[in-house]
Amino acid sequence: MSEAQSQTQQVTAAVAKLYDTYPFPPEPLLDEPPPGYNWRWNWLAAYNFCAGRKPERENIRILDAGCGSGVGTEYLVHLNPHAQVVGIDISAGTLEVARERCRRSGADRVEFQQLSLFDVEQLPGEFDLINCVGVLHHTDDPVRGIQALGRKLAPGGIFHIFVYGELGRWEVRLMQKAIALLQGDQRGDYRDGVEIGRKIFASLPENNRIRKRDQERWSLENHRDENFADMYVHPQEIDYNIDTLFELIDASGLEFVGFSNPGFWNLERLIGKYPELMERSQNLSPRQIYRLIELLDPETSHYEFFLARPPLRKSDWSDDNLLQSAIPEIHPCIDGFPGQTVFNYDYQIVNLTSAELAFMEACDGSSSVTQILEQVELDLTGVRSLQQRQLIILKE
Ligand SMILES: C[S@@+](CC[C@H](N)C(=O)[O-])C[C@H]1O[C@@H](n2cnc3c(N)ncnc32)[C@H](O)[C@@H]1O
Repeated sequence: MSEAQSQTQQVTAAVAKLYDTYPFPPEPLLDEPPPGYNWRWNWLAAYNFCAGRKPERENIRILDAGCGSGVGTEYLVHLNPHAQVVGIDISAGTLEVARERCRRSGADRVEFQQLSLFDVEQLPGEFDLINCVGVLHHTDDPVRGIQALGRKLAPGGIFHIFVYGELGRWEVRLMQKAIALLQGDQRGDYRDGVEIGRKIFASLPENNRIRKRDQERWSLENHRDENFADMYVHPQEIDYNIDTLFELIDASGLEFVGFSNPGFWNLERLIGKYPELMERSQNLSPRQIYRLIELLDPETSHYEFFLARPPLRKSDWSDDNLLQSAIPEIHPCIDGFPGQTVFNYDYQIVNLTSAELAFMEACDGSSSVTQILEQVELDLTGVRSLQQRQLIILKE
């Protein structure tokens, strides 16, 4: 065995032991489908976000790589009624919770397997959607991990990734190191780490920066030992900044489609008060703009984004003829419809005009844009606006 392989094996064993002790996330198991939605786990919504149109197929294969206790996996099954889902994880204890979670809520189009993402080539076939949330940064070689997963992505398939950011986790890293120092050779005993960590927090002065940050940012989650352990006593964590993130992305050989929290990556919200500042930013590359945003808003503790395996053709709907013959459907992640005030895919409130509402009400899944516009008072600009705001999805 090479030195690199033995390093991977050691890290994998240490990480599996953490999650065997504290399966994550510790969400309660329900006897019904989980509430609400996360659009990133809805194939139609995720594909529409990446390609600007409805995908051709819904009977797809989804891989949840590092599925943990199956919270995301369960959504992937329930939100995609025609998909087959595979969940892999290295922790046997966590997989047991994931199986039980899905069994209880009737999520039966899923198979779980104890497998490292480094060995994912052992799975047959390719996947149309790969979800890998909170995992790559806990491996010893995220580049090798992202490449292994990328090879399992079907051409035109999409890959949702979440990794930690270093700027917003500065205090977390300090606390991790402090706990490790006090644990000494008991490092790797995760229950001991949680006990030590909780005592440190209880002992720190109230206005201490690490304590304040924990209270302001993380205390809602960290009252559970599973969350506390995941955050403060993890044996393996690699954090990114925009520069190192794009090194990882470039090494994947896949195409960067965009951040799946685009509201954060909007420079206007930070320097928009002075148009001359915005003007100067026009000389910057998109990556430099992202860097500028995170430097000015160092709260960011993670990056979430979609990659695609080329070719992923994108529809922009600027051609009138194409738009007129498209078949519109209501976006699958909208709450409160039909009604003039709805929650959009990202749970933001949207007030529809009467004409927009009438258009959306006439979307029956078979009428074209032209046919609907014969009945309602909207024009093509209005239809484009509904599409751009992801209130409707268009099928070519
Ligand atoms: C923070 S949890 C995230 C769980 C889940 N993806 C979620 O977001 O709810 C990280 C999970 O990744 C798993 N993991 C870590 N390294 C892995 C690897 N090399 N292959 C597969 N799973 C891994 C861990 O066992 C753990 O269950």
